[in-house]
Amino acid sequence: MSTKENAKDENTENGSADQDNKGRGDSSSGFIILFFIVGLVASLVVGWIVFPKLLYSRKKQPIDFNHVIHVEAVDEGCESCHFFREDGTFSGIPKLEQCTDCHEEAQGEDPNEIKFVEEYVAKEKEVPWLIYSRQPDCVFFSHVAHVKMAKMDCATCHGPVGESEHSKVYEKNRVTGYSRDIWGKNISGFKKNTYDRMKMDDCAQCHEKETGDKGSCFQCHK
Ligand code: HEC
Ligand code: HEC
Ligand code: HEC
Ligand code: HEC
Ligand code: HEC
Repeated sequence: MSTKENAKDENTENGSADQDNKGRGDSSSGFIILFFIVGLVASLVVGWIVFPKLLYSRKKQPIDFNHVIHVEAVDEGCESCHFFREDGTFSGIPKLEQCTDCHEEAQGEDPNEIKFVEEYVAKEKEVPWLIYSRQPDCVFFSHVAHVKMAKMDCATCHGPVGESEHSKVYEKNRVTGYSRDIWGKNISGFKKNTYDRMKMDDCAQCHEKETGDKGSCFQCHK
């Protein structure tokens, strides 16, 4: 009886040991898959989220600028501030003198406007705006050719900046020193909007599409 019971016990022990072994086999291959997935997710996180964060340093504009308020406040829309001179050159970001007519002194309580008036208008100091679309010095770009001749919208290359209520954060690539607007929002190179990136190939692609010709190196490099 006792032997039988022992045998039974052993049997059940064996049986359960067998099951355990089988279970262990399953869970160790499960662990391998789990480790693989954890590793994959970790490298994706590093590659897609951590690396871009490390690659770009983030800077705020010296003054937060509200385009919506201003496009309403001025008479001629964008051109009141971003205009073409007689010789066809583009004025770019407005100079302080274009602001002083309205901001001789602060008109409201907005701390941002008070800072602007106290630190720049009163001291007659130009605001050191950061330029999101700034290309390397070796690149020649002409606004007149695109805006006047090719009749392109600002937003095609810049995105909806003219409709923004705040200046976006400027992201500078620590390796190249370029703005993130040149090398692209998405590190994989995926481009959803025409303005997501403005590298050499992006300029040339549109030129080829519009004119059937990629252009010579000297079209864009002087
Ligand atoms: C009252 C003057 C004013 C008016 C009007 C104005 N802007 Fe601006 N714009 C600025 C200032 C100042 C900056 C720099 C601050 C910034 O980038 O937020 C700027 C920056 C920009 C930039 C960023 C350029 C870069 O690469 O850094 C774009 C694009 C732009 N404006 C487009 C527009 C468009 C489009 C309109 C019309 C819908 C417009 N602006 C109307 C003053 C103006
Ligand atoms: C045609 C008049 C006009 C011109 C030109 C103008 N502004 Fe303004 N600005 C306003 C008005 C109106 C407001 C809204 C009322 C207020 O806060 O004073 C405003 C508000 C502001 C504010 C605070 C609001 C916010 O959300 O940031 C700042 C900063 C500012 N302007 C900067 C500038 C700069 C820089 C320029 C020159 C590139 C400029 N303004 C040119 C009329 C003007
Ligand atoms: C074909 C693309 C394209 C179009 C269209 C375009 N831009 Fe630009 N913009 C650029 C590029 C590229 C730069 C940088 C130029 C450089 O670094 O030499 C720039 C620079 C600027 C700057 C900063 C220039 C500076 O040095 O102060 C402003 C402001 C600006 N653009 C506003 C506008 C406005 C407003 C419009 C519409 C009227 C417009 N852009 C249309 C591509 C474009
Ligand atoms: C979405 C389309 C588009 C994009 C993006 C674009 N261009 Fe162009 N570009 C044109 C078209 C169209 C013309 C022809 C204009 C004309 O001569 O009628 C042109 C003309 C030019 C010219 C010749 C101007 C002249 O005086 O002969 C230069 C230089 C140029 N582009 C540089 C650039 C650079 C640099 C970039 C990128 C930073 C760029 N373009 C991005 C469409 C584009
Ligand atoms: C349609 C305009 C365009 C044409 C044509 C073009 N480039 Fe570029 N190139 C650019 C722009 C914009 C940049 C800056 C953005 C980038 O690095 O992609 C650039 C960057 C470069 C750089 C890197 C410079 C730096 O400081 O990072 C080199 C080198 C270069 N181009 C060489 C050439 C050569 C060689 C050709 C002829 C085969 C050529 N490019 C034709 C627009 C152009």
